[in-house]
Amino acid sequence: MKIIRATEYNDMSRKAANIISAQVILYPDSVLGLATGSTPLGVYRQLVDWFRKGDIDFSKVHSVNLDEYVGLAPEHPQSYHYYMNENFFRHINIKPENTNVPNGLAEDIDAECARYDKLIADLGGIDLQLLGIGHTGHIGFNEPDQDFDKMTHKVKLNQKTIEANARFFNSVDEVPKYAITMGIKAIMQAKKILLVANGEGKAEILDRALFGPVAPAVPASILQLHPDVTVVADEAALSVIQKNHPEALM
Ligand code: PGA
Repeated sequence: MKIIRATEYNDMSRKAANIISAQVILYPDSVLGLATGSTPLGVYRQLVDWFRKGDIDFSKVHSVNLDEYVGLAPEHPQSYHYYMNENFFRHINIKPENTNVPNGLAEDIDAECARYDKLIADLGGIDLQLLGIGHTGHIGFNEPDQDFDKMTHKVKLNQKTIEANARFFNSVDEVPKYAITMGIKAIMQAKKILLVANGEGKAEILDRALFGPVAPAVPASILQLHPDVTVVADEAALSVIQKNHPEALM
């Protein structure tokens, strides 16, 4: 695992965007696994900027998003379809038919999950998976204490996650209670993983994820077993690691 230290949010965003940009320049037909949340917004902004300057071409890229709320239509402003379109896809030249987000409105959610896994397999797997980390240690919507061996599946959201995401809705009651997420097993099959984290609020969980025991209580801890993980985090998010494992940040 490589840990890349950034000074602050914009620096984290630029460094992570550089890694994605290098991937697409080296392999223009890459399959990118993408994430939502506040953390990757700056990464997308930077990639859009470089696209506008003519530095990156997404015309052959396929994308696969990690998760989507159950029950939200793609046009719902809090759906992850909407987030991806607004923050990334509509600003670049990726083909809309090459972008994939689980369908939270599917009538048969299990069939949708199976379709999603097959789609990823048919694309030849994910070349580079971008991840944020939740305060619970979740990656995607894989909340604590679930099996590590799941592919895409339906999850009940943790109360802490519902409360964390309530800031985007009118009230906590409007936050969907279920989501479809790529499972830990599906995430671990990505060839490369790029985890981004910023701010003091993530410092404790980042330390537990990267240096604590590998256990379902902290889903992101499984990444310790992945052969190609790069973490890009700012000083604030690295503050507990700096204290407990300074040698890791040399
Ligand atoms: P955040 O979410 O980037 O909004 O903190 C991260 C996550 O829940 O994965």
